[in-house]
Amino acid sequence: MDIKEIYESMDYGTAPESAEEANAWLDKNNRVFGHFIDGEFVSGTDHFETINPATGKSLAQVSQASSADVDSAVAAANRAFNEWSTRSGFERAKVLYALARNIQKHARLFSVLETLDNGKPIRESRDIDIPLVHRHFYYHAGMAQLMSKELPNRKPIGICGQIIPWNFPMLMLAWKIAPALAMGNTVVLKPAETTSLTALLFAEICAQSGVPKGVVNIVAGDGDVGDMIVRHKDVHKIAFTGSTDVGRKIRQATAGSGKSLTLELGGKSPFIVFDDADLDSAVEGVVDAIWFNQGQVCCAGSRLLVQAGLADKFHSKLVNRMKKLRIGDPLDKSIDMGAINSQAQLDRIKSMLSSCDPSKITTAETTMPDDGYYHPPTLIQDVETSDTLMQEEIFGPVLVSTTFRTPSEAVALANNTRYGLAASVWSENINLALGMAPKLKAGVVWVNGTNFFDAGAGFGGTKESGFGREGGWEGLMAYTRPVNVPKEPADYSTKKTTPNRAASINRTYKNYVGGKQSRPDGGYTKQISDSSNAATYDIPISNRKDLRNAVEAANKAIGWSSSTGHLRSQILYYFAENLSARADEFAALIDTFQPRGMSGAEEVQATLETIFECAAWSDKFDGDVRNVPMRGLALSLNEPVGTIAAFAPESQALLGLVRVIATNIAVGNRVIVFPSEINPVIAGELIQVIETSDIPAGVVNILFADHSDVAKHTAMHMDIDAVWCEETAPISSMIEEHSATNLKRTWTQMNAATEIREFLDHAVEKKTVWIPWGEG
Ligand code: NAI
Repeated sequence: MDIKEIYESMDYGTAPESAEEANAWLDKNNRVFGHFIDGEFVSGTDHFETINPATGKSLAQVSQASSADVDSAVAAANRAFNEWSTRSGFERAKVLYALARNIQKHARLFSVLETLDNGKPIRESRDIDIPLVHRHFYYHAGMAQLMSKELPNRKPIGICGQIIPWNFPMLMLAWKIAPALAMGNTVVLKPAETTSLTALLFAEICAQSGVPKGVVNIVAGDGDVGDMIVRHKDVHKIAFTGSTDVGRKIRQATAGSGKSLTLELGGKSPFIVFDDADLDSAVEGVVDAIWFNQGQVCCAGSRLLVQAGLADKFHSKLVNRMKKLRIGDPLDKSIDMGAINSQAQLDRIKSMLSSCDPSKITTAETTMPDDGYYHPPTLIQDVETSDTLMQEEIFGPVLVSTTFRTPSEAVALANNTRYGLAASVWSENINLALGMAPKLKAGVVWVNGTNFFDAGAGFGGTKESGFGREGGWEGLMAYTRPVNVPKEPADYSTKKTTPNRAASINRTYKNYVGGKQSRPDGGYTKQISDSSNAATYDIPISNRKDLRNAVEAANKAIGWSSSTGHLRSQILYYFAENLSARADEFAALIDTFQPRGMSGAEEVQATLETIFECAAWSDKFDGDVRNVPMRGLALSLNEPVGTIAAFAPESQALLGLVRVIATNIAVGNRVIVFPSEINPVIAGELIQVIETSDIPAGVVNILFADHSDVAKHTAMHMDIDAVWCEETAPISSMIEEHSATNLKRTWTQMNAATEIREFLDHAVEKKTVWIPWGEG
């Protein structure tokens, strides 16, 4: 036999990982599990099977938590909170370190159990999931240690309800629990109903690692249990990863409750290949992008966009590679793809494909096991951009593909989705690849790579992929809140000066939209007068049409978002200069219209200082570089959110309004502001200052309106990226509820006294750009 014949006749043998230790652990527990509450395992009732997707056979029985179980888990977390949150960072760090070490020690058991319960290849659970899990606990041991020195103005939120999906059961648990514990919170976590086992093993590890009782509670069960956690009155924060539909429900269920919320939802992430890409690497990239974890990955590169000139060659290479992928027993170390997590998910994938013209589908004709839930790797070509398969998350090993001609067409296609989680760009031209990164609407961009994750690099989405980040410094924001809840400044009412504005001529104000003053669409106004009735003021009442016009104007000013920080700071200084020229007049107006609070002169002074502070930050609100464990780096960039609509605080009509405007100008957002309803006069006058300050048309738009009339439309508007308002305003729950339409970001805890830094954090979207380097 010559070498050629040997190569041709060679086949893979099986290389099975032993399930002995995992089976022994299951047997030790009689294959029946309850919940982990207050440091103890409780037996639970109402058991259901958890299935091994590779065989379709039962692995164990898991319990559906009752409302009493959820109540006692929350109560335990509540009791544990004081002691845990007031421990020193060092004391918490020791516990997180012990968790990291113990998970590392039991890595093999965790990996095998994960593969048995989830169906993912052991190669992945052993080399990717579990190593990332202990990396997460190590990293956050460090964050616990550093908290008091590096985040002196932040404190834990309290009791966190955490609901996770089945695609990365242990990894999602680590992403949720490690930062929460590091920052001094206590948690009640619910794993997905099909994959609870590693979370219950983790509970055992908690008991061995010195986690005080009640700090971590695990309750098992389905979406009903998730819903109980979401609605529990004593839970302060909800962190959810899962489907966009459930994310939307959770947004609605928590609206107006004061609970803080982070949502990590679905995606339809583009995988963009330019014709100068390293072809073989890009083909391997696709394999990792869509056939990793059977494509059940929220950030899977599930939409392939190939430059037209390369398309035929690329597809033919890709199909050849796809046909060689091996599917089979996930415990076999030499297979590429394992089982789909459940029969329900397999059915969902098949039903999505059933609508597709079979001539467009190429499927790898590999042999598949007879039992269990398997789906072959699949490529669908020539799909219209509007096609459901191009737009909807399939969450399986199915890649849809189309072509583009120019980089700008690639950007347009890539962004043509309601999601915005991740994107992957392949080109050997560094200028082209890095130039694409800021243009892609996504929380994460991988250059010449895909599916890189690390505890030190933020991960999370924009648009309907959710909001909030996990990992890195930004991930800690989701588990902390400011130490000093902003308070109204001291009451200066006793020192109030007498109104000194000698005005007796009526003033008629207009909206300010697209750089011009304009009458409200309906032509309605309301009249107000000052306390001495010395003057009257006509204030416009805006409607939905005015809102639409303002959004259009703001979106036309998109160029502002790529302007330099240097330009933005100059404009802000000039704004301050122009306001300062009318300082006495504004001070007098404040004294006239605000019977309580700081004096007019003080408020104007504070406002000028605010504008200067924003000008100072404009060119200094930098991103940074993350020390990720790879040859390369991850950039954490602060990008403008886009168009923000804000309901200015009712008090401090000048300072409150200007904080919203100046912080958004500083980072490059366009803003639509609704001035204080009780004191709109200040805004009417401020428009003239804005008009003379070189702020480009459309960057700042001011609409006078009854807040409750426009709140719902603002929250539902598809082209507004975020809405801000005061927590106390009755409209805040309306905004949260209706923002579920397109899951836009909301910030309902703003007020005039909130720290500028907090505003800036809310005004940016964190984007992580991964840049590997080196050849081979
Ligand atoms: P799901 O969103 O229903 O499940 C995720 C988690 O949420 C589970 O723990 C579940 O028990 C819980 N849950 C369900 N309803 C809830 C509710 N009303 N309140 C609180 N918690 C609730 O996802 P499912 O049904 O398992 O999969 C459906 C589709 O969702 C998949 O085909 C996929 O497209 C998408 N999905 C996306 C994930 C992601 O990471 N982006 C993860 C899992 C699913």
